[in-house]
Formats: sequence, structure tokens, C-alpha cells
Amino acid sequence: MPRTAPEVHADLVLEPRDVTFDWSGLPLHWIPDEPLATHTINVLHLLLPEGERWFIKVFKDALPLITDEQLREEVLGFIGQESIHAEAHQEVLDHLLAQGLDPRPYVRQIAWLFQRVLGEKPKLGPRQRRENIIERVAFVAAIEHFTAFLGNWALNSPGLDRAEADPTMLDLLRWHGAEEVEHRSVAFDLMTHLDPGYLRRVRGMAVSGPLLVHLWVRGVRFLLAADPTLDGRIVPTWRKALDISRRGLLPEPMASLRSGLRYLRRGYHPTQEGSSAQALSYLASSPAARAAAR
Ligand SMILES: [Fe+2]
Ligand SMILES: [Fe+2]
Repeated sequence: MPRTAPEVHADLVLEPRDVTFDWSGLPLHWIPDEPLATHTINVLHLLLPEGERWFIKVFKDALPLITDEQLREEVLGFIGQESIHAEAHQEVLDHLLAQGLDPRPYVRQIAWLFQRVLGEKPKLGPRQRRENIIERVAFVAAIEHFTAFLGNWALNSPGLDRAEADPTMLDLLRWHGAEEVEHRSVAFDLMTHLDPGYLRRVRGMAVSGPLLVHLWVRGVRFLLAADPTLDGRIVPTWRKALDISRRGLLPEPMASLRSGLRYLRRGYHPTQEGSSAQALSYLASSPAARAAAR
């Protein structure tokens, strides 16, 4: 089956960078005096460990269906990178717990969603199993569109530097964001390799887009209520999120929506979004990635 735009990234070699971060000095509100912005970004830590482990499971299930050697190499590189991402965000969750914010009730719901609802269905015949794997790959491809969008935003977010956000957290977000931009085509190319049909792409986004918004809103509410320093005083609203995004501390909601709609354009390919050169340039200067390279 044909690959999508092979000329654009025929030499893509994905290298997992075995980074570590020291969270011992991380303040609970790591964007100073911005608990709502901090916790809106913290939802990443709630969703990603379980979500990225699920990506890995889906891609491992899909490996026997791949008939293109270069794509197989990219999928293996993707699995390597996502497994380190999941561990890195897990360590932040452990740090939140140590600071008195218990993320476990929400994470248990996320684990249930990914493992039970979106997990492998038992007792399927070979054709149904193949169909189920491709459907799950399409969900991953749509989510990866947003992880690349967020990664691109993290790489271009001087507002976080102006607000003096914690430098270790900024490096985590930008290292992870850069790798999301670097591997942004893999899930989409895997989906179109297994099923080039447009409907599959639309279904992936129709499920993943609204689900992500729902989980994010719930996650922000959860973290604000669980934060022992806030006593439930902060109520999140879209108006507040808009104000914060205008100060450059969050992606703009409308830009996120427009990005989701771009995924549905007929000629869409992930290489049209973000810059691999910028991602690689950040990875060459990231303190965590440089330490891992040594
Ligand atoms: Fe990731
Ligand atoms: Fe990713």
C-alpha cells in the first residue's frame, strides 16, 4: 500500500533520548501565582502516562500488520520515545502526591478508560481484530495531531519564560513537545498504510477530539479541587482560560479548535504542521536531552 508523502521524511530516524529530571525543587504552582494555568498544563501529567502506554500497546498490536520496512522502523522509534515520555510524566505525578495533591483518583479513571474501554477487545476473529487495531490506530493518529500541536506551542511559548515558569518543567514540556513534533507523522502514516480511507481519519478525530476536551476540562476541575493550597477557591471558566491564553500561558482555545479542523482537510499531512528543524534544534540545546546524550 502506498505511503503518504514518503519524500518528506524518508530518512526519519527516531531516537529515544533517555532523559531524567530532578523534581525536588519544583513548586506546586510552577508558573508563579498562576494556579489555573499551572493545573491546566498539569492535566498532561494526568493523561499522558496511561495514554502513552496505551499508544505503545496499540502500536505493538499493529506491528504484524505493517508491510513497509521504513514505517516499521519509525513505529519502533515512536514506541521507544513514548515509553520514556510516559515515565517522565509519571515522575511528576509522584512529585504532586508527595506535595499533598493526590492525583490517583483521576488517574484510576483514565486507566479504566484506556485499558478497558479503548483496550483490546477479547474473543475477536482475525478480521475483526485487524479492524479493531486499525480503528485504535486512527484514535492515536488524531490524538498525535494534538500532541504535535501542543508540542509546537510549547516550543513557541515565550509567555511561559516571561512568567518565570520553572525551568525544569519548561525543559520537560519542550523536550517532550520537540519529540512530538519530530515523530508527528508516524501515527498518521501508520493509519493510512493500514487504511487509506478518509472516513477512518474522520472517525478517529470525531472520537478523540471531543474526548480530549472532555478529559481536559474534568482534569482541570479535579486538580483545582485536589490542590491543598486552594481550598476549592478557583473555579475554572472558558473566559479565564481565554484571558490566560492571551497572556501566552496556554494555547488559545480557538487555535486548538482550528487545528482539529485542519486534520480533516483532504490534503492534510502532519508534516504541514510545526517544524522538524526547530524541534531538533531545541533537542540539541535541551538540558535533559544533552545530559542523556552524554
Ligand atoms: Fe509523547
Ligand atoms: Fe507522540
